[in-house]
Amino acid sequence: MSLLNEIEPLKQAALADLQAAADLAALEQAKGQWLGANGKFTALLKQMGGLPKEERPLAGKAINAAKVELETALAARRGELELRAALPKDPTDFTLPGRRRIPGKLHPLTQVTDDIVRSFRKIGFVVADGPEIEDEYHCFDALNTPADHPARDSQDTFFVAGSENRGGATPQSPLLLRTHTSSVQIRVMAKQPPPVRIIVPGRVYRRDNADATHNPTFNQVEGLYVDRKVTVGDLKGTVEFVFKDLMGPDTKIRFRPHYFSYTEPSFEIDFSSPLVKKMGKDWLEIAGCGMVHPQVFETVGYDPEVWTGWAFGFGIERIAMIRYGITDIRLFYENETRFLRQF
Ligand code: DAH
Repeated sequence: MSLLNEIEPLKQAALADLQAAADLAALEQAKGQWLGANGKFTALLKQMGGLPKEERPLAGKAINAAKVELETALAARRGELELRAALPKDPTDFTLPGRRRIPGKLHPLTQVTDDIVRSFRKIGFVVADGPEIEDEYHCFDALNTPADHPARDSQDTFFVAGSENRGGATPQSPLLLRTHTSSVQIRVMAKQPPPVRIIVPGRVYRRDNADATHNPTFNQVEGLYVDRKVTVGDLKGTVEFVFKDLMGPDTKIRFRPHYFSYTEPSFEIDFSSPLVKKMGKDWLEIAGCGMVHPQVFETVGYDPEVWTGWAFGFGIERIAMIRYGITDIRLFYENETRFLRQF
């Protein structure tokens, strides 16, 4: 077969090879095989020397044309493969529905806490804070709670293992996760002289099994008011103002005698409103309160002959459940967005 007849089939084979290269490395290899120094197409050029003189121009022209064609094909294929290499491995499917970003919002418990704080601010209360890892002294002893009180039982409270003999802090007493925000009463009074007008929203811990109305962690708001000649009437008026502000003008409250070791007299507060009626009840127990016990004042160095005061504490989840008609407390902690989105 003459050289001229070899050009076309070789070119076709080379074109097929270049086109078949699946990636850039394969393409470079194919290029070497055909157009490299020892390539099969290059070999054609070398054979030109053996042709009779008169055949050379024609053959040269044909080979060069084929070479240009191969180089064009090579560049085109390289462009395609470079583009493919630059694309992401998993190509985007533009027909899929978009991923919407849902704007975040405050957790319902945060919203209720903010509302409670706002109500108390209207009548001059400020927010105070204290540690969630508390000691027995602030949580119990200083609140006139005796060592044999059931709340101090390891069945009811999370004690911090190995904290019994810790050094440093005075008074030294074992650490625990605070069972109520009342401990902050002590911390604030020990630090500042009267008068005091604070509320303390915060997380508390108890050894409870979670069910529809209990959870081992929940939130409370503590209130403390200390001044001269403070009365139960001030307490009742304040609580009534705040609950009406929070739960609507039809809200009623009533006090029932109760016992807390850090107040005397002590009361439980029940409240009633159209929201409570909706739950099929007349009254719901909502808070504990009372006049600060003189022993508590003695402990923090306030003169009980001069200073009087009241305190209260209530659960924030309880308020939120009544307000929104929620029947299972655990919903607050599951962070299921279908629940949270509703508030
Ligand atoms: N600490 C109480 C509790 O966790 C609530 C409470 C009752 C707080 C009476 C008070 C109070 O300040 O005076 O159940």
